Amino acid sequence: MNELIVIGAGGHGKVVADIAYNNGYTNISFLDDYKKEINGYKVIGKIKDIENFDSKGYDFIIAIGNNAVREKIQNQLKDKGCNLVTLIHESAFVSKYTEVGKGTVIMPNSVINAGSKIGEGCIINTGCTIDHDCTIQNYVHISPGAHVAGTVEIGKRTWVGIGSSIINNIKICEDCIFGAGSVVIKDIFNSGTYVGMPVRKI
Ligand SMILES: CC(C)(COP(=O)(O)OP(=O)(O)OC[C@H]1O[C@@H](n2cnc3c(N)ncnc32)[C@H](O)[C@@H]1OP(=O)(O)O)[C@@H](O)C(=O)NCCC(=O)NCCS
Repeated sequence: MNELIVIGAGGHGKVVADIAYNNGYTNISFLDDYKKEINGYKVIGKIKDIENFDSKGYDFIIAIGNNAVREKIQNQLKDKGCNLVTLIHESAFVSKYTEVGKGTVIMPNSVINAGSKIGEGCIINTGCTIDHDCTIQNYVHISPGAHVAGTVEIGKRTWVGIGSSIINNIKICEDCIFGAGSVVIKDIFNSGTYVGMPVRKI
């Protein structure tokens, strides 16, 4: 198995490294602009050092919570032909009738039901559920314990906060932030930050 380079050695990076280990990676290193070591793993350079890696011998995953930053770095790696992996923790249930894009991490105890499509570079965080026939576009983050009902579409880079709920047959545009505990019961057409039950734009 290739060495895995995890980009971003923050708290999210720690969890991603655990999932990588769970997926069989034993040779894991980090790139990070501030840290030198994380949970015994070496930080072997800064994020700009991705320029020095070629497409062979390494796998990559980006562990940065900011959706736009994750997209930017993933595009740089794609342009260089680097191998971005998909990491799915063994405790997650991912229906065989789903698609999951490169660079996406599916965290422990999540559920992705049949017919759903998860884009590239997404974070499907701990214990969240995405029911049947959803389309989750690239670089979306579904935070821990959030629930997305059936046939929901979520646009690029949208962040669904911890413990949120989205009812079935909803469309949400790109670049939204839903605060912790948001409840979405209507389509969202305008990018922005939403909170509450039901959500209001702030
Ligand atoms: C929505 C959020 C991003 C807003 O952060 P912010 O831009 O710093 O906004 P503020 O804290 O200044 O709050 C603005 C207003 O929205 C309200 N508000 C903020 N978050 C709220 C929430 N989740 N539910 C209800 N109201 C909320 C605040 O009370 C405040 O109201 P006021 O103007 O009447 O005082 C943040 O509060 C939040 O919920 N983040 C989600 C965190 C999360 O899910 N983390 C998981 C990581 S894996």
